[in-house]
Amino acid sequence: MTPALELQGISSGYGEALVLREVDLTLAPGEVLAVLGKNGMGKSTLLKTVMGFLPLAAGQVRLFGESIGGHPPHVVARAAVAYTPQEQALFQDLSVEDNLRLGLRRDRQLRVGIERAGEIFPFLPQRLAQRAGTLSGGEQKMLLVARALLCQPRLMLIDEITEGLQPSVIERLSVALRAECERTGVSILLIEQNVGFARGLAQRYAVMKRGELVDQGAMHGEDTAARIAAHLNV
Ligand SMILES: Nc1ncnc2c1ncn2[C@@H]1O[C@H](COP(=O)(O)OP(=O)(O)OP(=O)(O)O)[C@@H](O)[C@H]1O
Ligand SMILES: [Mg+2]
Repeated sequence: MTPALELQGISSGYGEALVLREVDLTLAPGEVLAVLGKNGMGKSTLLKTVMGFLPLAAGQVRLFGESIGGHPPHVVARAAVAYTPQEQALFQDLSVEDNLRLGLRRDRQLRVGIERAGEIFPFLPQRLAQRAGTLSGGEQKMLLVARALLCQPRLMLIDEITEGLQPSVIERLSVALRAECERTGVSILLIEQNVGFARGLAQRYAVMKRGELVDQGAMHGEDTAARIAAHLNV
């Protein structure tokens, strides 16, 4: 089966300084792979490189068999890739409705889109007129995920969505993403430091250390918890 995402020997970084070093990774269709790792190891750099925000210094990126290495972010996004970055990604001064609208290909899909967003997170349709910047941190993350799902992605790149959130919000995000996986078979490359959240969603894990993937395996293997703990020193 053609992988949803295939990285072969990719290296990239910022200017002359390489952060990623010859990263190989394969994500099967419908699979969720969690990339774990401590701060500053290159996890966000990995997603930015796949999205085309950073140039490839070396290697190949294939999306459902098609080479996309070197393509700009809007072209990658058009191939049904939804990216939820770690840093602020909503339009703070726009309403909830306008932020959702940005996830839709056509304006006439708005009514259906809002309905769908309400199925994912029921609070959203009641807050359409509220400025996104005045939502709580957890609500903003849920809006971000709803907007990403409205694009009907084949691949999601999710960067530390649980950072700073309380357990009940993390659980709602987990439930929503699991439901989407079952409904659509979307593939997800999940960057996480919350191992519990990652275990609830992912079938496989990989650990990134100083720009390299140093370990990969089944998420629910016998010795997985111990291996992950050893890498993260928890
Ligand atoms: N815009 C930038 N310019 C220069 N160096 C950068 C830039 N962004 C990140 N880096 C460096 O690249 C390395 C990897 O950063 P990256 O953001 O990918 O780490 P991360 O694993 O996502 O960390 P965290 O878990 O804290 O988000 C770090 O040393 C960081 O300082
Ligand atoms: Mg990061």
